[in-house]
Amino acid sequence: MSAPPIDVVVASVRTAAVDVLEVVLEAADGSPLPAVEAGGHLDLHLEDGRVRSYSVCPPADDPGAWRIAVLRQEQGRGGSVHLHATLRPGCHLVVGLARNGLPRPQQAERLVLVAGGIGITAVLPLARAAQAAGQAWSLVYVGSRRERMAFLDEVQSLPGDVRIVTSRDGGIDLTRELATAVGQPGTHVVVCGPSRMIDEVSGLGLGDRLHVERFTPADGAGPGDTPFEVRTRSGLSITVGARETILEAVERCGVRVLSSCRAGDCGTCETGVLEGVPDHRDELLDDDERASGKTMLICVSRSLTPLLALDLP
Ligand code: FES
Repeated sequence: MSAPPIDVVVASVRTAAVDVLEVVLEAADGSPLPAVEAGGHLDLHLEDGRVRSYSVCPPADDPGAWRIAVLRQEQGRGGSVHLHATLRPGCHLVVGLARNGLPRPQQAERLVLVAGGIGITAVLPLARAAQAAGQAWSLVYVGSRRERMAFLDEVQSLPGDVRIVTSRDGGIDLTRELATAVGQPGTHVVVCGPSRMIDEVSGLGLGDRLHVERFTPADGAGPGDTPFEVRTRSGLSITVGARETILEAVERCGVRVLSSCRAGDCGTCETGVLEGVPDHRDELLDDDERASGKTMLICVSRSLTPLLALDLP
């Protein structure tokens, strides 16, 4: 769950690649910021109440810095466009630390790290953490073209097996790329990238050796989904339509729920299940949490039963 929000100020802003802003934050009161584990991210609370999640990607020479990269997404939900237009040094922001959705699998003998586009912001700290821990690793950074790939210089200067692949150079066949990893029981694969990349690697049979974070929302509702009922503690009964998420449905009915990524990645919307069986579609809950049936992420997950009673007001 999210830690209490912190007041921060923008220390610097610069262009890290086409449509990507590098933003460094510091505490508004000058105090040291809490350490963020590799793979961790923070939630920026915008003035209009929206919250956007960004991986913390410190530079090599300042591992405690809260540096994020904001990709401008015209087709997104507006948060990144707003940030590109308004973020300037000296701006004040409220930031929360969220649950780490992509911790380094320390048990792995070897890590194969795959970053798609802005996903490098989660993967780069993992490569550095693996290097520091003496864990074997390799990294593939995939992008459309080099001008759009943030932190390329830093990736290229990593002391390890690093490959940069662009669509212009022919792209990448992940099935072939990861074939060796699939056959090595001690190798874990970590992928952060767009949904289509996650979907591709999810079919390779890596099981619990696959660790993913997508930076575009998981499909909370889609073809084949059907409506179901959600009941809150106060007895409010809400129909969740086939093309909306539980979160959208309860918000439509005036139920206030904390949320952030709305993609099943951060855990902010985690909600207790009192009755019914959830259809888990997130990337965050572990097998035990899923099997318990007692909790779910309502921004993406749905229901396997006609009724879900949830621990909502
Ligand atoms: S809002 Fe992030 S997991 Fe639901």
